[in-house]
Amino acid sequence: MLTVEQVAACGVVPVVVLEDAEQAVPTAKALLAGGINAMEITFRTSAAKASIAKVAAEVPEMIVGAGTVVNVEQLHDALEAGAKFIVSPGSDADVIREAMALNVPVMPGVVTPSEIMMGLKLGVRVFKFFPAESFGGLKTIKALCGPFPQIRFIPTGGINQNNAAEYFKNPKIVAVGGSWMVTKDMVAAGDFDGITEKSAAATALFREIRG
Ligand code: 3PG
Repeated sequence: MLTVEQVAACGVVPVVVLEDAEQAVPTAKALLAGGINAMEITFRTSAAKASIAKVAAEVPEMIVGAGTVVNVEQLHDALEAGAKFIVSPGSDADVIREAMALNVPVMPGVVTPSEIMMGLKLGVRVFKFFPAESFGGLKTIKALCGPFPQIRFIPTGGINQNNAAEYFKNPKIVAVGGSWMVTKDMVAAGDFDGITEKSAAATALFREIRG
């Protein structure tokens, strides 16, 4: 069974918003060329399901997941399209339970101790911390790790090449999520070389710090 740690092994989970499913394969290939082998395609656009399906079918080296999954219907849609993992901005017990029942890695979003306690009860050990920078970033994560030493985080929201290092240096961080290496503008402009360049810089920073 695929684990959250395996999904996030390259240190960076890109949050990808695609308006057109035709952009999915070139975007996935550009990320791969930069050393990123997992991508979260968000259910924020009508192109999400078709985009996931294209990457799953045409770019087998890429571990494609679904992001912004807020209910069980979207979870099923995502899995039908070939998604290998599920990311949610918040914590929904039904989504978490269903993903676990189906042996699909799930990264539910949290910012509070109560949300963490709910996730812990369901068996979650790696949480998305979202929106990270708005909720105190690493300082809050360190505080949360006091009562919850058994958990780790994938902080997302407001993280970029300039502040990722401080997260990578903390052992409670599995990886960081973000859109800085694959912005909507870059995708719209077809700037796939730019996506590769920023992805390579991000993964190099992670390797430099984690070895
Ligand atoms: C998002 O929801 O858009 C993600 O958390 C990415 O955040 P970022 O754009 O600040 O990286």
